[in-house]
Amino acid sequence: MSDLNPELLEERTKSAEKQVMEIEDEMDKLAKEDLSFIGDPRLDKLLTDNEKLKHRLVILENAIKKERGGESSIAVKKESKKPPTLITDIYSVDGTFCILDELRNIFTVAIFSAYPDLEDPPIQISLSGNNPKFGDYQCNSAMQISQMLKAKNIKTNPREVANNILNKTPTSPLVSKMEVAGAGFLNIYLNKQSAEHILNCIFRSGVKPPPVKKERIIVDFSSPNVAKEMHVGHLRSTIIGDSICRLLEYLNHDVLRLNHLGDWGTQFGMLIAHLQDMFPDFKTHSPPIADLQAFYKESKKRFDEDEEFKKRAYACVVQLQSGQPDYIAAWKLICNVSLQDFQTIYDRLNIKITPRGESFYHSRMNADVKELKEKGYLEEDEGRLIMWPHPDKNEGIPLTIVKSDGGYTYDTSDMSAIKQRVQEERADRFIYVTDVGQYTHFLLIDACARRAGILTNNKKLEHVGFGVVLGEDKKKFKTRSGDTIKLRDLLDEGLKRALDKLIEKGRDKVLTPEELKQAQEAVAYGCIKYADLSHNRINDYVFSFDKMLDDKGNTAVYLLYSLTRIRSIARNAKISVEKLMEEAQKSGIKLTDETEWKLGKVLLRFPEVILKVSKDLYIHSLCEYLYEICSAFTDFYDKCYCIEKDKSGNIVKVFYERLMLCEVTAKVMQKCLDILGLTTVSKM
Ligand code: ARG
Repeated sequence: MSDLNPELLEERTKSAEKQVMEIEDEMDKLAKEDLSFIGDPRLDKLLTDNEKLKHRLVILENAIKKERGGESSIAVKKESKKPPTLITDIYSVDGTFCILDELRNIFTVAIFSAYPDLEDPPIQISLSGNNPKFGDYQCNSAMQISQMLKAKNIKTNPREVANNILNKTPTSPLVSKMEVAGAGFLNIYLNKQSAEHILNCIFRSGVKPPPVKKERIIVDFSSPNVAKEMHVGHLRSTIIGDSICRLLEYLNHDVLRLNHLGDWGTQFGMLIAHLQDMFPDFKTHSPPIADLQAFYKESKKRFDEDEEFKKRAYACVVQLQSGQPDYIAAWKLICNVSLQDFQTIYDRLNIKITPRGESFYHSRMNADVKELKEKGYLEEDEGRLIMWPHPDKNEGIPLTIVKSDGGYTYDTSDMSAIKQRVQEERADRFIYVTDVGQYTHFLLIDACARRAGILTNNKKLEHVGFGVVLGEDKKKFKTRSGDTIKLRDLLDEGLKRALDKLIEKGRDKVLTPEELKQAQEAVAYGCIKYADLSHNRINDYVFSFDKMLDDKGNTAVYLLYSLTRIRSIARNAKISVEKLMEEAQKSGIKLTDETEWKLGKVLLRFPEVILKVSKDLYIHSLCEYLYEICSAFTDFYDKCYCIEKDKSGNIVKVFYERLMLCEVTAKVMQKCLDILGLTTVSKM
């Protein structure tokens, strides 16, 4: 498992590669210097260094490969010597076509044919950025290849390499021209007719996901703790996790959304003991413990102050864990109250999740612990049973599998959970969405599961970590009085603020009460979700209603407004989708103006953005993309008439190709917003 960013990994890999090369050079030199170098202590040292570095290199390369889903520039191996098949006819592809992948294929072919002897040459393709001088995409492999050749004592320079690659580049209907620029960049310009064809496909058949190999994926997210209030950290996990699920579901993966509730801790002992005292007839009459938080506090107070109560609480844990029916009934009752509470939050946010808390693994834990013990993975340590990730290197911290009182821990349930997920669920990917603070916990689970043979090579835990939620004062998010913020209150405030905003914009005067309510909810929950998703999740983030409700900038309000505006263009001109379809048969989308061409190219990136995010699980890039679409659309709409009216407001001319482009823009935006879990409204 690794949560390092791919660039960093790549950098480290490069430096490790360089060191390997240097050491190999040294060894060559030594060999030349003295033919009887065997036994030379210098050689020994070099050999060991080299071994270590090569080992490191493999680890880093694998990490990158995993990070990028096997697509690292460095990790692109000549796995099969067969070159990829390239498209020759643009009409053979549709709206699901990923341009970036095809460019990678084109350059794989070109580079292998220009440098057939090169072991794993890098295939580096990226967007060119904003300057049209640099084309639409760039191939930046020449610099690295030139380095690789130099290391083989072949004299060359990046420009020459770039030219050699260019000469071997097969023609493609996707590309209009390519040229070598600067120090050895290869600038790639897309072909406009091909772009128009793909956009026409999207116009006709809608936005469809790029095809991928179907996987079974478990996303463990939200996962609050029973009898405690769900806090803002859980809100982040809920929002990010749901969006990840939506994305993977969109790609047609088989996704299991799991709520790994904290429902099996020792805290239940005191809760049950307290319940027995307060509501002795709890089995026949549902006790009024809606405010579980308060109930929890009361029982905790007794637990800390009353020795007798404490003893009873411990005894209750034993009874519960041995499956005593009365205790199970009390436990279930408490869990249900909590669950209903959580469910109201999920319902409001329109989030689906299957509860499967720690208790689910209870029966498995006995067997799993026994097995770990028998296989000799557990060690005794001051009465506890612990497990180290490596048998001979006791560094860092171990897992606590059994506590000194015989009870199990968070570690134990996660070991049983991963085993169940591998062996029973037969999943391919295991995603965990929690705060970054739990990174080492999952690292340990991954390593120990690997040691125990539960996880094998290509399977790994993927920790999707996120930072802390801060208040506007950049301190821990709290209410004015210093209490932790209740999620329910937070959502209520969102609703209130969203309504204020809509009224401020005079929307209450144009929308029906029903429409206003829909807009209010879309804005309130949308802005909370979007503010979270649009920031790089690794960083802490400042919760500010003022910022998230701003109608300028990269906010939900701006995006939702933009989408309704785009949708209203054709509607206001009373042009039906049928009419547009009819016109599409005649001409289809034409990207004539500079701004149309630019917008078209942004829209075509949808598959590559989706595929990238499905691998690195950094949702904010999808938000950035959405914002980019909006900006490109604004530039286009400012410059190009879609409908021309005379002074008295009568329609003089309709630019159907442009209305089609509006439609495709709306479709792509809608899909992005669906994936982010934002509800769109037709009017706001
Ligand atoms: N209940 C935990 C918490 O509140 C999160 C659980 C995450 N999932 C897991 N499999 N450990 O921190």
